[in-house]
Amino acid sequence: MYLAAKKNPMVLQPPTAKAATAVKAVEKKVEQKVEKKSGVNGYKPLAEGETITFNLNGSPRIVPVREVGPGMSLATYIREVALLTGTKISCNEGGCGTCIVTVKKSENDAPRSLNSCLCPVLICDGWEVTTVEGLGNRHDGYHPIQSKLAEEGGTQCGYCSPGMVMQLYSWLQEHPNATKMEIDNILDGNICRCTGYRPILEAFKSFAADNSDFEIPDIEELKLCKKSGMPCSGTCAEKSSCGGGKSVGEFLWYSPTTITELASVLQGLDAGVKYKFISGNLATGVYKNDGPYDAFVNLNKCAELTTIDIVADDVTFGANVKITDAINAMETTDNEVWRGVAHHMRQIASYGVRNQGSLAGNLMMKHYHNDFPSDVFLSLETAGAQLEIMDHLGVMETVPLNTLPTMNMDRKLIVRIKITLQAMKDQKGNRKREISHLWMSRNSFMKTADVGEWVYRSFKIMPRSSNAHAYVNAGFLAFVDKPNSKLLNRPRIVFGGISSTFIHASATESFLEGRELTQDIFLEALGILAEELILDEEPGLASPVYRKQLALSLFYKFWLYMLGDKCTEDVRSGAYELDRGVTSGQQDFETDEAQWPISKPVEKYEAKIQTAGEAEFVNDIPSVKGELNAAFVLSTVANCDIVGVDTTEALAMSGVIAYVDASDIPGQNSWKFASIIAASVQPEPVFAAGRSEYAGQAIGLIVAETRDIAIAAAKLVKVTYDNFGPVVTDIEEAIKDPSYVFDASMGFPMQYGDVTTALQNAAVVVSGRFKMGAQYHFYMETHVCIAKPTDDGLELELPTQDMATVSDVVSKVLNVSSNSINIQVKRLGGAYGGKIELPTAVASAVSVAATKLRQPVRLWVNMEDTMCMFGKRTPYLFDYQIGFDASKKIVGVKSDMYCDGGWSPNGVDAFFAQFFGQSCYHIPNLKFGPFGVKTHTQATTATRAPGMVNGHAMLEYMLQHAAQEMAVDPLELRSNNLMFEGSPIMPVPEVLEEPNPIADMIEKVKQNGDYASRVQEIQTFNQNNKWKKRGMSLVPMRFGHTVKGFGIKYHCLISVFAGDGTISVTHSGIEMGQGLNTKVQQVIASELGVDINIIKIKNAMNVVSPNATVTGGSFGSELNCAAAIEACKILNGRLSEVKKKAGAAATWLEIVQAANMANVDLCARYMFTPDRQDAVNNYSIWGVVLTEVEVDILTGEKHIKRCDLIEDAGLSTSPLVDIGQIEGAFMMGAGLWTSEEIKFHPQTGELLTKNTWEYKPPAAKDIPQDFRVTLLKNSRNPRGVLGSKATGEPALLLAISVLFAIRSALDSSRTDNGLTPGWWRFDGPATVEKIHQHAGINPLNFTF
Ligand SMILES: Cc1cc2nc3c(=O)[nH]c(=O)nc-3n(C[C@H](O)[C@H](O)[C@H](O)COP(=O)(O)OP(=O)(O)OC[C@H]3O[C@@H](n4cnc5c(N)ncnc54)[C@H](O)[C@@H]3O)c2cc1C
Ligand code: FES
Ligand code: FES
Repeated sequence: MYLAAKKNPMVLQPPTAKAATAVKAVEKKVEQKVEKKSGVNGYKPLAEGETITFNLNGSPRIVPVREVGPGMSLATYIREVALLTGTKISCNEGGCGTCIVTVKKSENDAPRSLNSCLCPVLICDGWEVTTVEGLGNRHDGYHPIQSKLAEEGGTQCGYCSPGMVMQLYSWLQEHPNATKMEIDNILDGNICRCTGYRPILEAFKSFAADNSDFEIPDIEELKLCKKSGMPCSGTCAEKSSCGGGKSVGEFLWYSPTTITELASVLQGLDAGVKYKFISGNLATGVYKNDGPYDAFVNLNKCAELTTIDIVADDVTFGANVKITDAINAMETTDNEVWRGVAHHMRQIASYGVRNQGSLAGNLMMKHYHNDFPSDVFLSLETAGAQLEIMDHLGVMETVPLNTLPTMNMDRKLIVRIKITLQAMKDQKGNRKREISHLWMSRNSFMKTADVGEWVYRSFKIMPRSSNAHAYVNAGFLAFVDKPNSKLLNRPRIVFGGISSTFIHASATESFLEGRELTQDIFLEALGILAEELILDEEPGLASPVYRKQLALSLFYKFWLYMLGDKCTEDVRSGAYELDRGVTSGQQDFETDEAQWPISKPVEKYEAKIQTAGEAEFVNDIPSVKGELNAAFVLSTVANCDIVGVDTTEALAMSGVIAYVDASDIPGQNSWKFASIIAASVQPEPVFAAGRSEYAGQAIGLIVAETRDIAIAAAKLVKVTYDNFGPVVTDIEEAIKDPSYVFDASMGFPMQYGDVTTALQNAAVVVSGRFKMGAQYHFYMETHVCIAKPTDDGLELELPTQDMATVSDVVSKVLNVSSNSINIQVKRLGGAYGGKIELPTAVASAVSVAATKLRQPVRLWVNMEDTMCMFGKRTPYLFDYQIGFDASKKIVGVKSDMYCDGGWSPNGVDAFFAQFFGQSCYHIPNLKFGPFGVKTHTQATTATRAPGMVNGHAMLEYMLQHAAQEMAVDPLELRSNNLMFEGSPIMPVPEVLEEPNPIADMIEKVKQNGDYASRVQEIQTFNQNNKWKKRGMSLVPMRFGHTVKGFGIKYHCLISVFAGDGTISVTHSGIEMGQGLNTKVQQVIASELGVDINIIKIKNAMNVVSPNATVTGGSFGSELNCAAAIEACKILNGRLSEVKKKAGAAATWLEIVQAANMANVDLCARYMFTPDRQDAVNNYSIWGVVLTEVEVDILTGEKHIKRCDLIEDAGLSTSPLVDIGQIEGAFMMGAGLWTSEEIKFHPQTGELLTKNTWEYKPPAAKDIPQDFRVTLLKNSRNPRGVLGSKATGEPALLLAISVLFAIRSALDSSRTDNGLTPGWWRFDGPATVEKIHQHAGINPLNFTF
């Protein structure tokens, strides 16, 4: 139902005179075209002046069709026209969920979530759209979902939060009685890089009907405004006049409402016209470069295309039924086949995509891109679907679905999709040639008796738990006489992900017709299947070997399923998917009430404004008058010369203003003048001139009126290359050539003792090689910078962790003084180290453009460009040796540590890795050789725990290896070698100055985690299950936290307003989700003795904090708190006289007012540097984790069952914040070790995993199902700030336990499959493919 409109309908601003003329000219041409095309019976396209209308948060929006054009997405409209920036855009390809809004398309439709980034605003006619602003806000009160998410610590950077809120809100509108299990599943398309999802899921499940702790509000209550108690009017959001869209050129837009009208439209289309049916428009999220189109036919008004008819064994879908509707209709039947198809379709993409994506739209993607592993095609083809297709003359024909990929579909419409099961039952193949078959089964050609049962089984094996395309998908349908274990028809066997032409395993189908389900028949069929599976090989795909073996394994799974209980018990579980129940979590921490608000589990400072979408990020800042937009032109080939750049076509595009390149730089063409980790720094050009070192290097910028135009025009710039050199993208390949390897010891090779002699005399020496990969930061807020020329110089708004370097570098690039560059930073939408150095590159480029054009320019880099252009975590390779004496004590460790820095040495962090290469063990003799390696890839950059995660992993891997070689329990070996007070630690010659708490922590984890009995359970499980295996691993760590000696400095300025006593603070720490502002607020409240709520934290500014250290390395929170404490001391000192005079009963306000009257300065600033403070020192952070996984051996999929993690956070200043940091870091590590794989094109060096379609950070169902985090108690840190310890990075190191747990599960499988027990190399990341490939599967063990 529409809510009453409170304000006047929005009217678009008229275009500028120039634009108006341009639009008129376009319209004239379009009119001529319309005349020509519409014909006598022609259904006319929307013409000049026509509008569509929809409700946005209860207010009508009237959108002139021509003005916005077919290219404007609902998300862009919401953000740029309606100026509601709570809805975020990150990937712009349906893969992250930040843009989710709720949509009710008609009176009878249920409100559902939708990814607004892919939805053209022109199809929203008649819809009700609710954005996060429509739920609640700080003025009118927050919605219960927003409040709960904030309370539970479900936000960190907050960039994903509005999308999360809207996903649950949408779900509850349609499912007010949702269960915990349902809610656990709804985040299948919402990525959160910060939190590790646990607190979000916890918060959301409190709205479940089966949650005993929560009084479920009724659905109306969920729409209430909490503050006013009134039903939400949806008008909380501030309305603003619209900025106006842009016509993007000549186009025809049809919105027919009947099939007859559609026929008329098709009839009117000339053969040459490039047209597109718009259903959900989601295909553009996958295949971005299809088009451009002259005509658009909106199918959303045609009700006949969305009917559903299910009668017993027959199903008819209107072609454009939404995937969700198809699922819902089939799921509620008791038909095995329909339920099977529904189950398969549930694994497509995410809720938002399924709500909007149609069956026909998906099928047509398969038509246009035959290699697309479509799950709709696979499941419907398995069920034997037929299509009713209408051509442009209105003639209908019915064809089998499998003909669609190769059919001529020009000006044809899929009208209906039909499945008739009876037809499948009697299906027979042409078996004339199979005489042996006839011989064996005399009944096979007799009419099928109705004694059989349908067995439908399909599989989708993908790189992570949800929202990923299949490596291979497979569908099987058979009519089976179960009591007699016999196939009664010709089964249907369909595979996707094999090749662009492969659909049916026809030979196998023919062979199996009427066969008995015996082992012999299975093996024969398996052989036939293996022969007919011919696989495509492409660099971006999983290997053909894996895909083929996977397909064969899935066939085996199907057979197991058909036989069910007739199989032996040990193989039965192989038939099923990994079983994952409802997630749960426990958090255990200490708090000291005497010190509150210190150590109090308070809600994050910005949490509520984040959940309400009110927290402003840089790309939310409204554009100023005259602001232009820029997009990078990137190279596409590595290691070659750039010999030509042709911008003619790009500059000719309407709306394009200029091209900016190296020749426009007034100063130095480099954005790198210093590095925090490298000794010498190689310049990295702002714009490449002459040479493309890697594919993705910035060559120039296109500046245009809008961002979309700039991005489109940048793609039109033609770059020519020559003088191609070799392209090496893999570290192991690179180190074969010594010219790619260089010393990275920075003059300090790390060694002590005599490792050569120690290893010579060792009882056992274990040596090996270990490799681990890169990792993309996946900050949801991609890079952006707004550069605005002022009378003073240049104002920069950008998300950076390092203001000082930005102002220093930009001033050098522009050849101006540092004080001409004014920077302020409010918050970052995630960073993880990726916004330390890289924003400088963006700021430099856009500053050149703004200076050249003397206009404000915004450069908001899209996700693909961000991924292609910028460096990621450093990949590593270690060649190691570890020696033990007879009592299994380590005697020496030696390792050559190779670190891949990409094309430039600047990012090589092997020096850091050395510091962490002891983990928590006593190593009497040690030698590390740190090396940098050059590859033709992006220059790597700091990524959460840079080098640290690598060094720690290396040593833990060595121990894992040694334990296996020496046939001892890895935990026993670890416990036998723990470091102790006095053990050498890095850097040489330091020693551990405290007892090592790890042994106690291990005991605690074992106790809490029920270790002994679970070890037993796992053994029993593994003995009883051949194809599902469990593994457990316990890994400890010491994280050497170093704050001294790096010249770290942070500033804090506190201003007290005498009028009301409120306090404003600016410090030089950058809030990026780590809760720094919350801790500073707590500390100031405590030091000044005031209510926390009177303190506001303002933007960081370089004018206040000119030489501040980067916020990173886990030390930002603590040290900015230290600066705040000192600033408070100054204030308290100044106030002491006044306080004395005012007496003990005086309030804060009375004191500050008296002080102001006495001319006391109520503004205090302090610069804190640990180098000059004895109270703060380097210290160790200790942690232990116990992780259990279950692996599906036949597919390689895994599931983290449980995780018990204990970390020493001292006395946490803010326990909710610190637990969030620990969980988030652990999950980022889990991604590093499992699903996050980076691939390059072997010839060009182009990044292949460059978007959400190809790159897979963990999703909500990848977290441990049971996640328990404990902060070590009684461990106040005497060397830290207020007894606390840092938490941002350490837990990331512990995630290697996931790799080892998987390994342990695989060991059991390898033994079952007859491989000799012993060591085998297992590098990170352990992708689903790699897990499968190491499971040692022998098809001869495919028994029943
Ligand atoms: C992030 C993401 C993840 C995804 N994951 C998966 C996945 O795991 N598995 C999977 O199978 N798919 C996946 N998809 C694909 C998704 O299912 C399709 O994009 C969606 O179903 C397309 O439907 P649509 O209505 O949006 O089609 P549109 O994008 O509107 O149209 C797609 C094409 O179909 C044509 N078309 C539409 N209707 C008709 C018709 N009736 N007759 C003739 N032509 C027509 C259009 O002209 C156009 O060329 C994913 C997509 C995204 C964005
Ligand atoms: S921005 Fe829409 S899903 Fe990522
Ligand atoms: S809080 Fe979810 S991405 Fe930052």
